[in-house]
Amino acid sequence: MFRKHMRLRWASLPVLLLALAGSVAGTAGLHAESIIPALHATMRTMRASLAEIGEFIDGKGEPAAALEAATKVVLMAKSIPSLFPPGSELEELPGKSGAAPTSWDDVDRFLEAQKHLVIESGKLRMAVKDGNREAIARQLAITRGACSACHDQFRD
Ligand code: HEC
Repeated sequence: MFRKHMRLRWASLPVLLLALAGSVAGTAGLHAESIIPALHATMRTMRASLAEIGEFIDGKGEPAAALEAATKVVLMAKSIPSLFPPGSELEELPGKSGAAPTSWDDVDRFLEAQKHLVIESGKLRMAVKDGNREAIARQLAITRGACSACHDQFRD
């Protein structure tokens, strides 16, 4: 019953998700088995990229590398919906994913959190481009807050 409800919710977002899903999940047979590694890789790369920007603020690392890291976070933030395509059915693999069932129950809220990260990481990228370390540090904290905002709602 729950899954039926979930499918209906997903069905209201057809174009965006189908367009985005293509690159990562392929066209058919979208299963948690193939999605989870991509999701975890994306999340870990974002974490590593933010850490790299943090190091730049501390005086380690080159501006070009920090900008590349920031760009990566923006692109990956944009790709998040493609990691949760219709029919993901992650709840069938409770042992393999910590994603809360609510991820599927309120898609709008999930995508709102994702868009919030896109906006804040975009500002972070601009700050890195400008090169003012104080401003970068401020926006890095805000961006991390956007990560947590989604995790608080959707990650166990
Ligand atoms: C729109 C929601 C959302 C946003 C925004 C988000 N995450 Fe996640 N993240 C998740 C979910 C859901 C999981 C749990 C996936 C699972 O357990 O299978 C997760 C898991 C993770 C993990 C653990 C991955 C693993 O290998 O177990 C890391 C690290 C992580 N996120 C980092 C980040 C960072 C850094 C950001 C911000 C730049 C971020 N996330 C933004 C939803 C989000």
